[in-house]
Amino acid sequence: MNPSGNLPRPLARPRRMRKTDAIRRLVRETRLTPDRLVLPQFILEGEDVTEPISAMPGRSRLSIDRTIAECKAAMSLGVNAFALFPAIDGTLKTPDATLAADPDNLLCRAVRQIKESCPGCCVITDIALDPYSSVGHDGLVAKDGTILNDETVTILAQMAVVHAEAGADIVAPSDMMDGRVAAMRHAMDERGHTDTAILSYTAKYASAFYGPFREALDSAPVNAPNVPGDKKTYQMDPANAREAILEAMLDEAEDADMIMVKPALPYLDIITRLRERTHLPLAAYHVSGEYAMIKAAAKLGWLDERKCMSESLIAIARAGADVIFTYAALDYARWWRESLG
Ligand code: PBG
Repeated sequence: MNPSGNLPRPLARPRRMRKTDAIRRLVRETRLTPDRLVLPQFILEGEDVTEPISAMPGRSRLSIDRTIAECKAAMSLGVNAFALFPAIDGTLKTPDATLAADPDNLLCRAVRQIKESCPGCCVITDIALDPYSSVGHDGLVAKDGTILNDETVTILAQMAVVHAEAGADIVAPSDMMDGRVAAMRHAMDERGHTDTAILSYTAKYASAFYGPFREALDSAPVNAPNVPGDKKTYQMDPANAREAILEAMLDEAEDADMIMVKPALPYLDIITRLRERTHLPLAAYHVSGEYAMIKAAAKLGWLDERKCMSESLIAIARAGADVIFTYAALDYARWWRESLG
């Protein structure tokens, strides 16, 4: 007996467009080229220093000279943008994070040297107090444990000016204080830095996926009386989506040049919603925990690293991100090149 006996044959056969690799390539809707990626870099004092980060296999804290070498290697693969994060010696961290706005701090020295040694690169600096804070918060912490918004914004605006003076192309506030974009824009314009752009971490969630990053910078909130153990009073509740739209409207009104969603893969719906509502370029941050999960499963032989990492990044682009921050930028750029060859 023929089981499909009298059934009509399907008229629509979308599988025709999946028949061969050549056809699949023709009709592919999303292409993620390495020039849309940003490679985050963790920077250390010293010379010729490499310190592997245990929860982020393949990524290390590097001294400025080694960071420059890696930036050059990245540029030769088509990755031209770098997000810099300084790993500050614990003895230099203070409750008021004074070092954050010092024009000779590690970050500012790194920006000057990278801009000088890597012509054509795009340097993005992080604006938040946590790498410099002895209590591990992005803002100033009052005696009663409150994270002080307006006092913090004053320092963030000073940070933006010193980063712009050092040569940053883009300053990126990741702190989630209210009103920081407008304050930074005003402060930089007053000092003549009208061409330094602002990439706002618009919808940054209070996510547990930042764990490995906090290990890299030793920047987790410290366990002490009257120091909040998490960042929930400033980073967003993972349960909220409409609030991301509100944050995006405010950032646009404050003249942000680019906005960002972070983390990326667990928040694809947020990327898509913001994509539909803004004409600004949209970035997404494929964060440390997202990278670590794939690395760990691959190490156990449970997942194929190359396929899963590529699929994750393409999904983030498909959801609507123009720009993707990822620790896998170098690997992806190599795979991209191989896939052309
Ligand atoms: C801090 C900052 C964090 C990340 C980027 N900037 C951590 C945090 O908010 O605690 C996380 C990035 C990652 O996990 O890859 N301002």
